[in-house]
Amino acid sequence: MARIKVLPHAELCPQGAEFEAPPGKSICDALLENHVDIEHACEKSCACTTCHVVLRQGFESLDAAEDKEEDLLDKAWGLEATSRLSCQAKVGGADLTIEIPKYTINYEREGGGKK
Ligand code: FES
Repeated sequence: MARIKVLPHAELCPQGAEFEAPPGKSICDALLENHVDIEHACEKSCACTTCHVVLRQGFESLDAAEDKEEDLLDKAWGLEATSRLSCQAKVGGADLTIEIPKYTINYEREGGGKK
């Protein structure tokens, strides 16, 4: 099991959160199962950016992102070098520290159009 630490987010987890997750589980599912209600507008099908997270620790332990994820991430609000789409990134063997960006760009809610 990997220990996941979530940094405080004003709406989703004001106190931050800490829980364990098994390797192979997507970060998005791990968050949702532990009551951190991260947005996932495309139902985890790698078609939005609302599940964007930034890894503050453990980025190297995740499988590399596929091209589709990289392309979408380019559109994410607050992109950083250690950004991932949490529905695509699976927990690896190492502990993770996750920051959920303050904003998302919800393409689905805005009609799915490209900007
Ligand atoms: S939920 Fe849409 S890309 Fe992850």
